[in-house]
Amino acid sequence: SIVRHYKFNVVKAQATKLCSSKPIVTVNGKFPGPTLYAREGDTVLVRVVNHVKYNVSIHWHGIRQLRTGWADGPAYITQCPIQPGQSYVYNFTITGQRGTLLWHAHILWLRSTVHGALVILPKHGVPYPFPKPDKEVVVVLGEWWKSDTEAVINEALKSGLAPNVSDAHTINGHPGPVSNCSSQDGFTLPVQNGKTYMLRVINAALNEELFFKIAGHKLTVVEVDATYVKPFKIDTILVAPGQTTNVLVTADQNAGKYLVAASPFMDSPIAVDNLTATATLHYSGTLAAAPTTLTNTPPQNATPVANNFTNSLRSLNSKKYPATVPQTVDHNLLFTVGLGINPCPTCKAGNGSRAVAAVNNVTFVMPTTALLQAHFFKIGGVFTTDFPGQPPHVFNYTGTPPSNLQTTNGTKVYRLAYNSTVQLVLQDTAIIAPENHPVHLHGFNFFAIGRGLGNYNPKTDPKSFNLVDPVERNTIGVPSGGWVAIRFRADNPGVWFMHCHLEVHTTWGLKMAFLVDNGKGPNESLLPPPSDLPKC
Ligand code: C2O
Repeated sequence: SIVRHYKFNVVKAQATKLCSSKPIVTVNGKFPGPTLYAREGDTVLVRVVNHVKYNVSIHWHGIRQLRTGWADGPAYITQCPIQPGQSYVYNFTITGQRGTLLWHAHILWLRSTVHGALVILPKHGVPYPFPKPDKEVVVVLGEWWKSDTEAVINEALKSGLAPNVSDAHTINGHPGPVSNCSSQDGFTLPVQNGKTYMLRVINAALNEELFFKIAGHKLTVVEVDATYVKPFKIDTILVAPGQTTNVLVTADQNAGKYLVAASPFMDSPIAVDNLTATATLHYSGTLAAAPTTLTNTPPQNATPVANNFTNSLRSLNSKKYPATVPQTVDHNLLFTVGLGINPCPTCKAGNGSRAVAAVNNVTFVMPTTALLQAHFFKIGGVFTTDFPGQPPHVFNYTGTPPSNLQTTNGTKVYRLAYNSTVQLVLQDTAIIAPENHPVHLHGFNFFAIGRGLGNYNPKTDPKSFNLVDPVERNTIGVPSGGWVAIRFRADNPGVWFMHCHLEVHTTWGLKMAFLVDNGKGPNESLLPPPSDLPKC
């Protein structure tokens, strides 16, 4: 293993899409940003220099950050933001992980343009547990907003209403010919007949889960969230914001041009931006100008298509890559996730109220000092450790919502002893909108041991849990009006954010943090902070 040095200059760049042009915040002037390559076991040093007028922080989404929480990145959780003109070196070692992840800004809505792929290759000489592809291609899915995303969310917070949706989806930064204004702006993936390609598909969009498919070609799923899965073939995959999926695709069809499509999934009555981003799979030697083979994308509410993919996922669970599912549980937790309403006298458009979101009825309030600093330096008054392990009032989540939709505000964490095991059931409250919430846990991978619709039943549902080969991930969709059960081992001391990766819900408060104490052993404590850790 080696030490790899990267330099991320956060700079403004002018970008033109859909017939309009705007300055965007980027890393090194690129959208999507540069791909960061490393190998399992490597130490990565990324020097982030902030040349823009916004505060910045960068998160290495899915990297375990064992004992190095200072490098995790969420602003006001593990670090104060990097202020204009300042820099910070993220220093972490990649332990026991290989595969596709992503990095992104983790402050306000900056990640709309500040994101990129993080590719961890296996150690030298270690093969993939599937036939080696002839070529690998990074495919970053995103959104494009004609307006400034910081203005979009600030406006929504002022009015109390839901923010606007994006103007297009993108594949590697390109919407594809979705309108006259983008007829020339598509991504092309050149292929050669008979060859196999591994696509590292990443959803970096702010607010939309996306279906992804290629006309005429089956996708063989081999990895999600940088963990190997039992390979299976499927037409359409579903990738939520923050999730990654590696698929193999063989150019085994007649030479031609095939449409590649990314379209939104929203299993609730809420209207979303339904523009499909398109790209082209282009067999070499084909001269046709436009894709010759098209495909239908699933409708926005195609829950069966989503379930077909999700229910097919199993850990590889081989000798070399065993599924280390905790078989016993120290903390048995039930968290509700969903929306709510809070009074807001200044919200004119919202009629005196505003949309909020909560976990176990707590709408998380961002502190003004990073939680990890407060924890490490024992600064009082920044957070409390009374995050409830069970919902404050139990109700029928799929029936009539409670008459009081109000949540409580707080900066509360849930405390875990080092190496304790956690079973966490995430229950969608279906209040206001039954909606799929892609929940991301920092600092850990977890096993998705169960999933169901309606109310979680603690007596009967555990009987169907998969404790053998459940899929291992870092971001999981809590089904609309349903629940998921996950397990993980709290073997990483520090403060770890957990939140809905739909940025609008994070902003509204669908977030909380776990505090994991130090262990007693020699390598079981959070390391001290680096000397250049930003100050608030
Ligand atoms: Cu990818 Cu806390 O996020």
